[in-house]
Amino acid sequence: MMIDAIPQELQQRLDKFNQQHLVTHWKDLSSEQCSRLMAELESIDFAEIQQALATKAASTSAETPASRAARCQPPSQLIRLADLEQDAEKRQQTEKAGLKMLRDGKVGVILVAGGQGTRLGFDHPKGMFPIGPVSDHTVFQILFEQVIARSQQAGAAIPYFIMTSDATHDETVAFFEEHDYFGMNADDVTLFKQGTMPAIDAETGKVLMSAPNAIAKSPDGHGGMLQALHKSGAFARMVDAGLEALFYHQVDNPSVIVCDPILLGCHQIYESEITTKVVAKMSAEERMGVLVEVDEQMEIIEYSDLPSDVASATDDSGNLRIWAGNTAIHVFSVAFLKRLHDAGIDLPFHLANKKVPYIDADGQLVEPAKPNGIKFERFIFDVLPQATKALVFEADRDREFNPVKNAEGNDSPETAKAALIRTARNWLESAGAIVAGKVPVEISPLFALDIADVKEKIEPGRMFAEPTYLR
Ligand code: UD1
Repeated sequence: MMIDAIPQELQQRLDKFNQQHLVTHWKDLSSEQCSRLMAELESIDFAEIQQALATKAASTSAETPASRAARCQPPSQLIRLADLEQDAEKRQQTEKAGLKMLRDGKVGVILVAGGQGTRLGFDHPKGMFPIGPVSDHTVFQILFEQVIARSQQAGAAIPYFIMTSDATHDETVAFFEEHDYFGMNADDVTLFKQGTMPAIDAETGKVLMSAPNAIAKSPDGHGGMLQALHKSGAFARMVDAGLEALFYHQVDNPSVIVCDPILLGCHQIYESEITTKVVAKMSAEERMGVLVEVDEQMEIIEYSDLPSDVASATDDSGNLRIWAGNTAIHVFSVAFLKRLHDAGIDLPFHLANKKVPYIDADGQLVEPAKPNGIKFERFIFDVLPQATKALVFEADRDREFNPVKNAEGNDSPETAKAALIRTARNWLESAGAIVAGKVPVEISPLFALDIADVKEKIEPGRMFAEPTYLR
């Protein structure tokens, strides 16, 4: 049954933004379907889309990304883990400062887990991927156990804020409940959902429909986190809890050192507003954003925006000049994020040409063979130029950056599992244990967070001849 005529106010909005096609199928819809479509249309900010397109057009005419990228320099404000390792006193001092922040309950953790993981070809939230090389535990379990272990070490709760999206939310919640939050106090876990953005037709600027009563939408990028934190009330919770720093990480890297005390300590000692871990890119083509300075201002340029001649330029020693790959591990000061919010600063949209299936005027589903649509995403690292003080920290790539991005080859489950085994083996051997041949070993964060923990628990000379999971 058809709902009454299209409400006048809605029709006027559609006319104003030239989006009348969105109600083409109105007369064929049931009242329930009409209500759903109306709710969808009400949630779209057409002015914001128009603005994003206009900004893009203006920036292209003002300066091309290529000419801007040509002016970029490597970061100057840099701390290297390798240098800290040489300076025992400084290392100890930063670690102590970080541990104190944790003990004082000043640190929260943010995990972004709203992405669709298309490249991996895994049809569930990426955190549900089994990555433990011996235990078969999921990425979520390994990350949760790190938060639990770090909180036990600090003797204070560490709240975990997890961002999901329409694409991942329900399954993630069900998975956490099924696994009893992996032993974490559920009150310390806050899930909040990021927003969505409609996709538009690249030629006409018209919003694409995925069904006669539904808009083609996708998550609004991890930069949607800022709005989502405020809208959900999670940010108010952080402030009420007295949090001062947020350790931020992505769901695709099981080797991340969650709440790394050294990173937290550096962030605090240098009074940084945003601190970023980088690693040297392995090749010019590697799909990592790069941390650079443009006109003495720090920023991250995404790999898709970095012209290949800039990416492949080398210095006198033959190393990549623009070398600092973004691991997407950051520490944000809560006061900094609050300042951005209070000043009403919105992050820019990045526009990506994608294949977006859509319903045509006859109601037929079209699966495009080449990119036909534009998707809009915000990137959290675009807060960087807003910071008055930012710090870059070069981490140990082998230990800390082994993401799961692709089904095979580089950055795949195979390489991520190998890294977890490598770390466990190094720790055990440093403690004097003997690990036979190619025997896989895995250490749960609940057993040890670092070499020092292993040395306390493992007798020198202990033999590992079979696949072993220590928990
Ligand atoms: C990302 C970074 C890149 C960095 C690399 C390191 C971006 C745009 N680029 O690339 O600079 O070098 O990681 O591994 O982030 N996510 C959401 N919501 C979204 C989109 C993504 O929560 O709407 C989350 C995903 O779940 C994932 C993370 O953000 O945890 C990264 O997303 P992805 O699109 O896979 O980024 P990359 O292209 O790998």
